[in-house]
Amino acid sequence: MRLDKLIAHLGYGTRKEVRQLITTGSVMVSGVLCKDPGSEVRPESDDILIRGTPIYYKEHLVIMMHKPVEVLSSTHEPGETTVMDLLDERFKRMKLSIAGRLDKDASGLILLTNDGGLLHRIIAPNKNVYKYYEVRTEFPIKNGHRLEQGVQILDARNQPFQTRPARIEIIDEHTCIIAISEGKYHQVKRMFLAIDNHVIALKRIAIGMLQLDPLLEAGAYREVLDSEIPLIFASDSAQ
Ligand code: URA
Repeated sequence: MRLDKLIAHLGYGTRKEVRQLITTGSVMVSGVLCKDPGSEVRPESDDILIRGTPIYYKEHLVIMMHKPVEVLSSTHEPGETTVMDLLDERFKRMKLSIAGRLDKDASGLILLTNDGGLLHRIIAPNKNVYKYYEVRTEFPIKNGHRLEQGVQILDARNQPFQTRPARIEIIDEHTCIIAISEGKYHQVKRMFLAIDNHVIALKRIAIGMLQLDPLLEAGAYREVLDSEIPLIFASDSAQ
């Protein structure tokens, strides 16, 4: 891979800025100063330093984060803390996309990736990837079967929208796990409103069969291993 292409992929600026970085002598490749933007490098095996710091390269990166409440699922929002603000510099500059947002007052599993194909496969409704949420409600959960049949809610444009059948597992009177394969605006909250209830706490606990790592405290994150990616598209055989 060309050195300038690699460094641009890592998010160190525009092609022009990256060329400048290289030609002014900020990049070392395997112990040698490299001023040629067109040099061929092997990012997995070459020892590449930018301003003395080793690069972090992964063609397809997926991060799982435990989003805390009060943090926004967006890339930049003046005056607010976003999930991107919680990342290390090396990940921040990679311009990751969020695979399925959570409301500010919701917590739990967020996936961030630079892999456009994977992003599409996770969020496209026709891909049938179920997202699992733990829900606490204000009133006892009585009409869960209606959610399993599908209910009418309003979408982001306040247009009526018929939800697909959800999967419900009752935990106790005020707590359940709901799994849905769509992602309309405030969908879970609006589904509970449709059965005359009110969500008071919402936490995403899994996407497909990929569960939020219980070792991740709110605000923490880790890379998703290549071997874990198929879990996102696996379905629960018990359902
Ligand atoms: N449904 C909601 O209502 N909010 C979320 O953040 C996710 C799903």
